[in-house]
Amino acid sequence: MRSLLFVPADSPRKLEKALSSGADALILDLEDSVAASAKDAARRSAAEFLRQARKEARVPKLIVRVNALDTGLTDADLDAVIAQSPDAIMLPKACGGADIQHVSVKIAVREAESNLPDGTIGILPIITETAQSLFEMGSYRGASHRLRAMTWGAEDLATDIGAETNRLEDGQYTPPFMLARNLMLFATASAGVDAIDTIFANFRDSATLERECRDARRDGFTGKMAIHPDQVAIINAVFSPSEAEVAKARRIVEAFAQTPGAGVLALEGEMIDRPHFLKAQRLLERV
Ligand code: COA
Ligand code: MG
Repeated sequence: MRSLLFVPADSPRKLEKALSSGADALILDLEDSVAASAKDAARRSAAEFLRQARKEARVPKLIVRVNALDTGLTDADLDAVIAQSPDAIMLPKACGGADIQHVSVKIAVREAESNLPDGTIGILPIITETAQSLFEMGSYRGASHRLRAMTWGAEDLATDIGAETNRLEDGQYTPPFMLARNLMLFATASAGVDAIDTIFANFRDSATLERECRDARRDGFTGKMAIHPDQVAIINAVFSPSEAEVAKARRIVEAFAQTPGAGVLALEGEMIDRPHFLKAQRLLERV
């Protein structure tokens, strides 16, 4: 998944538009973009959207962002959507592997009630939204077979620590937020799942969005969340490996296949060993 577009689930117009946005995944939001008074309507409209979308020939992956565990709203959110078999549930304000296990059990019960095979629905947590969450980073590894990818957020974290801003004037994150981003990247690699970069809210500023995508890709993120359809094409372009990169990865995998038992090889004047092989293999899997 390169691009994951947020869509407020109480907006039929945006839901409709999102389907043709070109995003690899849609995140139907029941949380922060939906007012408390509109939660019920959003749940119904998300469920109906999932039901209809399943009939289309080519649909993006469909993810539902539920409300956080401490809101008391999570169960009603899951009750509304699990029977329609979304690809994953996005859990905001996740605070460690125990939260993932907690939500996994909630999903498992509803999967069983809906006659869905156990483990059909994945979990994609946002793991940096509270100060405490930064101290739970090591606990996602092995937490659940449902863990598909992880992402981070800087807005709720800013509120939690009382930061005046999370960005410098040139658009770069301030050090506390870079720390959260970077820890999340290590936590995600340690858990063996994909790292998805957070949103860029200023949807008219495509130059800064592109820079942020390039920085993210450089550091190991495989995709980025979007909040506006105009952001999707930029994200998809940056996170699609180029033909040259794919060709190089093929040559690396091929070189090892032709020399069974070799630990290290020379290819085009460069040393390649196991990390290069694994990286090439992963790139080809994504393609
Ligand atoms: N998904 C699908 N369609 C969207 C969209 C989205 N996230 N954001 C905008 N659109 C649609 C608009 O409805 C509009 O369509 P229309 O002209 O047919 O009515 C078109 O794209 C252009 O939108 P634009 O006028 O540029 O923006 P806007 O002022 O309507 O909306 C936001 C701006 C920020 C309110 C909107 O992009 C949005 O709701 N984003 C998602 C917010 C969210 O989910 N936040 C939670 C995660 S942080
Ligand atoms: Mg939020």
